[in-house]
Amino acid sequence: MSFNSSRYYLLKEVEQFARSIPANALVLDAGSGLQPYQHLFAHTQYESADFEKLDIPYTNTTYLCDLSNIPVEDYKYDCIIFNQVMEHLPEPGVVLKELHRVLKRGGKLFYSGPLFYEEHQQPYDFYRFTQFGLRFLFTQQGFEINRMEWVEGYFGTVGYQLDRMAFFLPGKPKELGGGFRAYLLIPFLILVKFFSGILSPIFHKLDVSYKITKQGYPKNYVLIATKPSK
Ligand SMILES: C[S@@+](CC[C@H](N)C(=O)[O-])C[C@H]1O[C@@H](n2cnc3c(N)ncnc32)[C@H](O)[C@@H]1O
Repeated sequence: MSFNSSRYYLLKEVEQFARSIPANALVLDAGSGLQPYQHLFAHTQYESADFEKLDIPYTNTTYLCDLSNIPVEDYKYDCIIFNQVMEHLPEPGVVLKELHRVLKRGGKLFYSGPLFYEEHQQPYDFYRFTQFGLRFLFTQQGFEINRMEWVEGYFGTVGYQLDRMAFFLPGKPKELGGGFRAYLLIPFLILVKFFSGILSPIFHKLDVSYKITKQGYPKNYVLIATKPSK
């Protein structure tokens, strides 16, 4: 896979969060999937929860469960990782309430999720979240939001869109239903596809040098929330 600035920035975010978690803290990776960040929490006691309903090679999930009903006691965890999961939940508020229940007072939660991304992991793909939707959902369940930011800059969003254009734009007349006009249009679309494919990695690289967050829109938001001590 070619360089993707979202992955670059997200890894930095999770690394920074992991460094802030004390040794031996009890951590829950909620919706853990392939547990790509487990190694960053090697200094903690790491547990995971996932419903394992997708056709992917899950391994070592501690709790095989729906996130709306995690089989552990109240106030168990010092910290929760909730990465790229919330858009897959039909009732995100119900799950946030459950995560709030299992988190200790003063415990921290790391969230990231998309604002702008194609449908994936169908049929378990329900929402995209704006900063205002995130603020509403988290505070409604009693979390305090400590920090919310764009994961990547607008160049990263453009890099993603260009990559998808190179992949999805039609390149054959029959994909436009055939006919004379389709034959005229296809050379133009092939050119656009070609240049989109070339420009996409350039924008992803630019995103690392110039993280533009004052215009455009992010592909993902990252958010750190706390369960208040009282
Ligand atoms: C996009 S993946 C993210 C995986 C991982 N957190 C990561 O950062 O790579 C979403 C994960 O959420 C899990 N998931 C989706 N809906 C769920 C639900 N209702 N209960 C438990 N797990 C769920 C899926 O099985 C999948 O592993």
